Amino acid sequence: MTVGRNDPCPCGSEKKYKKCCMKKGTGPCLLWSFSCFPRFTNRYLFFPDGICNNTYCMKGRGGQKMSKTNISTDPLFHTFTSDNLIVENRTVMAPMTRGYSPNGVPGEDVVAYYRRRAENGVGLIVTEGTGINHPASVSGASIPLFHGEASLNGWAKVVKEVHEAGGKIVPQLWHVGMTRKKGELPNEEAQPVGPSGLSLSGKKITEPMTEKEVVNMVEAYAQAAADAKRLGFDGIELHGAHGYLIDQFFWENTNKRTDRYGGDLFGRTQFAVEVIEACRREVGPDFPIIFRFSQWKMNDFKAKLATNPDELDRFLKPLVEAGVDIFHCSTRRFWEPEFEGSDLNLAGWTKKLTGKPVISVGSVGLDGEFTSFSGANTTSLDGLIEKLDNDEFDLVAIGRSLLMDPEWVRKVKDGRANDLLPFDKEALQTLY
Ligand SMILES: Cc1cc2nc3c(=O)[nH]c(=O)nc-3n(C[C@H](O)[C@H](O)[C@H](O)COP(=O)(O)O)c2cc1C
Repeated sequence: MTVGRNDPCPCGSEKKYKKCCMKKGTGPCLLWSFSCFPRFTNRYLFFPDGICNNTYCMKGRGGQKMSKTNISTDPLFHTFTSDNLIVENRTVMAPMTRGYSPNGVPGEDVVAYYRRRAENGVGLIVTEGTGINHPASVSGASIPLFHGEASLNGWAKVVKEVHEAGGKIVPQLWHVGMTRKKGELPNEEAQPVGPSGLSLSGKKITEPMTEKEVVNMVEAYAQAAADAKRLGFDGIELHGAHGYLIDQFFWENTNKRTDRYGGDLFGRTQFAVEVIEACRREVGPDFPIIFRFSQWKMNDFKAKLATNPDELDRFLKPLVEAGVDIFHCSTRRFWEPEFEGSDLNLAGWTKKLTGKPVISVGSVGLDGEFTSFSGANTTSLDGLIEKLDNDEFDLVAIGRSLLMDPEWVRKVKDGRANDLLPFDKEALQTLY
């Protein structure tokens, strides 16, 4: 049973819970255990026998029993080796925008946040999306930037501490394109930019980017890639997913161009191709370039760039030829088949078609996807391990579970599945 601060106290007192039993041991109700709920929450779980055996989750729907992970999690802890990247295990921290970098500068709290995950065994950290050097690259003054001395110095500290803790880290290079609203910080006067000046819903907002603007944008990505290498990062991830700038070029709804950056699916990859090539030119052949893409867009979860494997092949080929090392295939639920007639998910198909290593992602260890904006209970890892063990994908990105709990990887490794925390959306309000 979960109880809010203002609910009646389950001990039978007339008072609200916060008046009766807020502090452990001070009220007549002693039926709860501090260790079984996360510090962020204002809800409390009560156990009929007064003992928390950690098999019930505190969040949502009255405490559901967790399904157990029955098979060995060892495959998650095998070393990953590719041509230019070795990762100690198969776990990746998914990029998650946190908005805790005032004036775009990651400070000591951000350094500690990433270090904490590295210390607890995350193999590879992909940072939150960080804005390339363009005035309209991000929406909001506390989104970290990836240009300017102060921001880059902040990132250098992150890299140093993650390395000291034994982890690896790549920045996710980001431009939000037309998802930026006019007048948003950090540069209120900067207009949103995109291939055709269209919002994700197809509304005309600004003029299409000129060819010169497109070419300059490519160079802004390249500059960020060069800076990432100079700062000691272990690679870069290009954010080509979810309906942001690169994806706006991919998607027919937002790209109506008739020049070389538009046209059919192949033509719509041209911007990404030039970005990848320019980054490769800056970082050389040995520095890993990870490319994140998705079929879904933030305003349309059913959107598809490719409706069958042939189309996916046509979409991926130019990106491979341009120099991608690893594809990060963003799905909301990793277990869902991408196309009819096969169990392979998007990552599985991408690996099969390109022969490149792939990262899978989406509701790992949780029973609800991240776009539902609510909490989620923990679930078994059996299905994930089976797919990983079958080589459907190489690496596994974990989002909310790692946002909630920096120790998630260590707990899984130590077989402490019962200690895994459900995702509570209040964790978004804390940078821990
Ligand atoms: C708070 C939050 C912020 C996110 N920010 C980004 C981002 O900056 N870049 C990105 O590519 N994906 C972002 N995502 C998506 C995650 O990388 C991941 O794909 C998604 O959460 C699914 O993984 P999960 O189910 O394990 O949480 C974000 C997700 C969350 C929950």
